[in-house]
Amino acid sequence: MRFIFFLLWCAIINFPAALCSAAQNSCITAECHIDIGKAKYLHGPLAADICIVCHIPGEGDQPPENHKLSYYKEGTELCLDCHDKLEKFLKGKTNHGPLEDGECIICHDPHQADNRFLLVETKMQDLCFTCHEDTMTNQNFVHGPVAGGDCVVCHDPHASKNDFLLTSTRLELCQSCHEETKIYFKRKYVHKPVKESCENCHTPHGSKFAFHLKHDTTDLCWECHREFVQQLNSSDSKHTAITKNGCLGCHQPHSSDNDKGLRENKKEICLSCHEIMKRKIRESQYLHGPVKEGDCVACHDAHATNYAKHLVKFFPDDFYFPYKIENYAMCFGCHNKEVATEESTETLTNFRNGKKNLHFLHVNREKGRSCKACHEVHAGNQEKHVRQEVPFGSSNWLLPINYTKTETGGGCVVGCHKEKKYDRKNPVLYVEQTQTQTKE
Ligand code: HEC
Ligand code: HEC
Ligand code: HEC
Ligand code: HEC
Ligand code: HEC
Ligand code: HEC
Ligand code: HEC
Ligand code: HEC
Ligand code: HEC
Ligand code: HEC
Ligand code: HEC
Ligand code: HEC
Ligand code: HEC
Repeated sequence: MRFIFFLLWCAIINFPAALCSAAQNSCITAECHIDIGKAKYLHGPLAADICIVCHIPGEGDQPPENHKLSYYKEGTELCLDCHDKLEKFLKGKTNHGPLEDGECIICHDPHQADNRFLLVETKMQDLCFTCHEDTMTNQNFVHGPVAGGDCVVCHDPHASKNDFLLTSTRLELCQSCHEETKIYFKRKYVHKPVKESCENCHTPHGSKFAFHLKHDTTDLCWECHREFVQQLNSSDSKHTAITKNGCLGCHQPHSSDNDKGLRENKKEICLSCHEIMKRKIRESQYLHGPVKEGDCVACHDAHATNYAKHLVKFFPDDFYFPYKIENYAMCFGCHNKEVATEESTETLTNFRNGKKNLHFLHVNREKGRSCKACHEVHAGNQEKHVRQEVPFGSSNWLLPINYTKTETGGGCVVGCHKEKKYDRKNPVLYVEQTQTQTKE
């Protein structure tokens, strides 16, 4: 304001031209202040060659004894007197430290500079790093605008209503450049920390880790999902996908159209990596109930458990296994527990010869056959998921069983015994047990 008044004052009252022109010119002479006016940018008042809007002139033609101390006002007031827009802007906001301390000229040259906005440093970050420690530009990954020295896209150098002098709310800030991330919020499932703040996971300046993450991805997830660290550390059977591909093999970090932030829907996620299983399922005529539903996690925990193949319940790994109900907990979670408890039955199972329960016969003994001896767990080409081949022992030797099914029973020819038939209505008579069955 003072500047304008001054010019008006000179013009209107036609103040002794001598004084006005003295104010304008007399300070820059052949001997004095010869460097002023040589820089690329000149401060407004100096462009008009007026020094005494800021400096109190000396007596007569004499320069003041000490220019530095002879201002009309001190500190920021000197500047804000004319920069009233900025003054208004500062009101009601948190002002940057140096402004609080009354310093404009720590960043701006009051007279002239080769840098825009009369800044005292050519590179923005050099200006900021005169006071702030540089913890950013030496990181492995430096964020685009930081590398470009554009601190002020994110921080207002003067003041802000937002914490850390941010130029807008955090989310808007990130999305002002990363517009494509607006789609995160349009999906069905949005990860909670993403709704809160991007900096839950990303550092704004730079990071040791790709994508400016706070930690490498698995540690990042673990930081909040502590229960997983425990689950994984205490589990005997961890899904290799976690150790090999990390959490992001299956989960999106930001959002997804699938529940639990999965990359693909629950039906497809497992088969996206398990090619052999995928082929088997595609090529099989009969799919086991939960497999048909795409519910792999009904039996396998996606992450880790204490049971082999991270099954959710115990299931014997071996061909022969002593019978106990709990040993087939995996299957009995959904199927009738009694299938092998009664030696004789007319209701519990169709796998019987007359009333003789053949599940009981095969399964319920010290050297019982595991369900997988006869059944496919996932998919197969025979009814009731009866296998075409039986894995023998722990070897990879596969015995064909040549199962045939009839209206009222069925039969098979296995390496371990001659053709065997069962019939629920007209039981087949057997004089003695087969060799393998009696040998036990
Ligand atoms: C917008 C206000 C303003 C105007 C206009 C202004 N000065 Fe200054 N001047 C200052 C401030 C503030 C300082 C103190 C700078 C510092 O401490 O680094 C200063 C310091 C000085 C100094 C001493 C330190 C130095 O930089 O050598 C001289 C000499 C000086 N000014 C001359 C002038 C002359 C000559 C003019 C007119 C051509 C002028 N000033 C116009 C604000 C102004
Ligand atoms: C007498 C009035 C006056 C005073 C006092 C004054 N300025 Fe200015 N300032 C101006 C004018 C006029 C301009 C040029 C018009 C514009 O660009 O806004 C200007 C421009 C600037 C600019 C450059 C803006 C740009 O867009 O390039 C900065 C930075 C600045 N002043 C900082 C200061 C600082 C720091 C002080 C205190 C040391 C100060 N001003 C004191 C009148 C003043
Ligand atoms: C910490 C350094 C710093 C301090 C202290 C500082 N400024 Fe600035 N100022 C800047 C930077 C950096 C810019 C350039 C902003 C940009 O590029 O958008 C700027 C821009 C300006 C501008 C021009 C753009 C605008 O916002 O109108 C003016 C005028 C200005 N400052 C005046 C002042 C005044 C007056 C003070 C003291 C009250 C002050 N500054 C204190 C760093 C500072
Ligand atoms: C003259 C020294 C100085 C310069 C130059 C300076 N700052 Fe500051 N800055 C401070 C002080 C002092 C504080 C307040 C004390 C604090 O919180 O650390 C501060 C605070 C901040 C804060 C807020 C920190 C918080 O914890 O809330 C940010 C962000 C910041 N400055 C960014 C910048 C940027 C960007 C620049 C360059 C444009 C810059 N500073 C230049 C001295 C400076
Ligand atoms: C992409 C936006 C962005 C850019 C660019 C940026 N900052 Fe920041 N800065 C932030 C955010 C967000 C925070 C708050 C961090 C937090 O919440 O811990 C911050 C915090 C700060 C702080 C205070 C806390 C700390 O980490 O020390 C300082 C100082 C700071 N920034 C300086 C700078 C400087 C200097 C530059 C330029 C070299 C810069 N910033 C560039 C977004 C940015
Ligand atoms: C001023 C613009 C700007 C702002 C604001 C900004 N960024 Fe960036 N960001 C960039 C640029 C430029 C890159 C580098 C682009 C590249 O390399 O593809 C980048 C890169 C990134 C990357 C790495 C992308 C990759 O593919 O490697 C992440 C993550 C990121 N920014 C997150 C953020 C977050 C979080 C915020 C808010 C705190 C933010 N950005 C604010 C401009 C910005
Ligand atoms: C829960 C942690 C987390 C949060 C919160 C988060 N991100 Fe990310 N972000 C990541 C991870 C992890 C990656 C790396 C993705 C990868 O490796 O494929 C990433 C990558 C990115 C990328 C680059 C690659 C891409 O997928 O496009 C951008 C840009 C990005 N994030 C922006 C943001 C923004 C903007 C926000 C806030 C709205 C945000 N992020 C919040 C974890 C997070
Ligand atoms: C800053 C903390 C934080 C980080 C880091 C984090 N999460 Fe989360 N996550 C949460 C919170 C909070 C929830 C919501 C929990 C709730 O609603 O009970 C959540 C929910 C989830 C869910 C969905 C749970 C549900 O029931 O819908 C999954 C999956 C998930 N996070 C995976 C991840 C993965 C993968 C990572 C690493 C990229 C990760 N999280 C990093 C805090 C975090
Ligand atoms: C092999 C794919 C896969 C990997 C790798 C994976 N998850 Fe999951 N995650 C899933 C599936 C599938 C679900 C849904 C389970 C369900 O609905 O029963 C899930 C659910 C979750 C949930 C929600 C749990 C709940 O009880 O609702 C969280 C949290 C989670 N995962 C975090 C993680 C973290 C952290 C990692 C990395 C340590 C990780 N996941 C790795 C597939 C995976
Ligand atoms: C990101 C890829 C990936 C995804 C997605 C994935 N897995 Fe895996 N899985 C693996 C890898 C790698 C192994 C270890 C190599 C192998 O045995 O095939 C493995 C091993 C397994 C094993 C143990 C195999 C053995 O012979 O010991 C089971 C069971 C399993 N996965 C089930 C699942 C289920 C269920 C899902 C869905 C919730 C799933 N996987 C999703 C990569 C994946
Ligand atoms: C009804 C429970 C159940 C369901 C549902 C299930 N599995 Fe399994 N899965 C098992 C059992 C039990 C084993 C161990 C079989 C063995 O020891 O031979 C197994 C073994 C595996 C293996 C190890 C390799 C193999 O062929 O033996 C993989 C891989 C696997 N399952 C993936 C899947 C995928 C993918 C799905 C979903 C399409 C799925 N499972 C659904 C019970 C199930
Ligand atoms: C998550 C529940 C679940 C688990 C666990 C489960 N099943 Fe099933 N099972 C089903 C469903 C559902 C059907 C389809 C029933 C139907 O079609 O009527 C089925 C069908 C069968 C059939 C064919 C029955 C028929 O009438 O067609 C056999 C055999 C079978 N399961 C064996 C097993 C074995 C062996 C296990 C343990 C490895 C097991 N199941 C674990 C749900 C399960
Ligand atoms: C020696 C081979 C064999 C063993 C071992 C075996 N099953 Fe079966 N199971 C069959 C045959 C054959 C059928 C088909 C009966 C029919 O429909 O004629 C069958 C049928 C079933 C059915 C369909 C309903 C019923 O009982 O008719 C279920 C469920 C079943 N088995 C579950 C199991 C479970 C669980 C185990 C392990 C505890 C197991 N099976 C062990 C051969 C076996």
